[in-house]
Amino acid sequence: MKNLNVETVLDVHHWNDKLFSFKTTRHQSLKFRNGEFVMIGLAQDEKPIIRAYSIASPNYEEYLEFFSIKVPNGALTSKLQHLEKGSEIVVSKKPTGTLVIDDLKPGKRLFLFATGTGLAPFLSIIQDPETFDKFEQVVLCHGVRHISELAYKEFIEHELVEHPYIGEMIQSNLLYFPTVTREDFRNQGRITTHIKEGTLFSHLNISSLDPEHDRAMICGNPEMLSDISTLLNFYGFEISPKTGIQGDYVIERAFVE
Ligand SMILES: Cc1cc2nc3c(=O)[nH]c(=O)nc-3n(C[C@H](O)[C@H](O)[C@H](O)COP(=O)(O)OP(=O)(O)OC[C@H]3O[C@@H](n4cnc5c(N)ncnc54)[C@H](O)[C@@H]3O)c2cc1C
Ligand SMILES: NC(=O)c1ccc[n+]([C@@H]2O[C@H](COP(=O)([O-])OP(=O)(O)OC[C@H]3O[C@@H](n4cnc5c(N)ncnc54)[C@H](OP(=O)(O)O)[C@@H]3O)[C@@H](O)[C@H]2O)c1
Repeated sequence: MKNLNVETVLDVHHWNDKLFSFKTTRHQSLKFRNGEFVMIGLAQDEKPIIRAYSIASPNYEEYLEFFSIKVPNGALTSKLQHLEKGSEIVVSKKPTGTLVIDDLKPGKRLFLFATGTGLAPFLSIIQDPETFDKFEQVVLCHGVRHISELAYKEFIEHELVEHPYIGEMIQSNLLYFPTVTREDFRNQGRITTHIKEGTLFSHLNISSLDPEHDRAMICGNPEMLSDISTLLNFYGFEISPKTGIQGDYVIERAFVE
């Protein structure tokens, strides 16, 4: 356990039977860049069960927040979903990851493409004032199967605009595009379909993708990463090849390497 800190759960929120979020204490030595992930888990008698988790809270908050799936029979989440205020989890001491704005070339618009819990790293990125210093407009796209999986919708649409540090920037510079694939909703269909058919741009009343001034980050399942990368490549975007080298877009490389 020498690479792990023990943290205490401060709050738990269940969105539905598949998704929940929780906040924990944050060890004062834990530093991270918004968009990075840590290994978290539960200590057991023998080896702890640990999994990669994006930190959903921004790095200026005193607590850590995580947004989690509940996988039926999942080694970790079948237990993790029973966390309560006061429960303990373990958190790795060295955050890492490639979903960081430092690895994007300068640009005007930032597109954040997420499916399911892939929203998590972007929650920290949209709460980072540096994101709005670097980009004039941020377009957050979140694709889910059912409306009840649009976690954080109220937070993004209503609470964040009241935020003391970034409320004004959110109000004037963030566009949010939630879309649902298996239920009636105002935006319906996969993010990839909305890009291909142009409805992402027409619904938001913005111009189409242009590698000249647009940058992007992608987070979701491996097929989604591959499908959106293919689309961006078609438009002429170039991926950041590795940490520390800037590109037009970034994906979480823990999934592909
Ligand atoms: C870099 C990285 C960051 C991650 N960040 C998060 C995060 O912020 N929140 C989160 O919930 N998960 C995240 N994951 C997935 C996470 O590491 C675990 O897979 C998840 O907690 C389930 O663990 P488990 O032991 O219960 O089941 P596992 O045995 O790990 O998974 C069982 C199966 O469930 C499915 N599955 C796993 N995770 C998800 C998911 N998040 N959404 C949909 N299906 C899934 C997959 O088909 C997988 O094969 C991340 C993974 C990586 C590589
Ligand atoms: N830092 C990180 O790297 C990080 C952080 C958090 C989560 N994650 C990962 O994010 C993933 C979340 O799961 P999930 O994305 O499968 O969520 P999900 O909840 O299973 O699916 C959500 C939505 O994605 C759509 N979708 C599926 N495949 C797609 C594709 N190829 N292109 C476009 N849309 C697609 C689905 O549409 P249909 O209904 O049409 O199928 C559905 O609407 C997990 O793999 C998790 O490990 C990674």
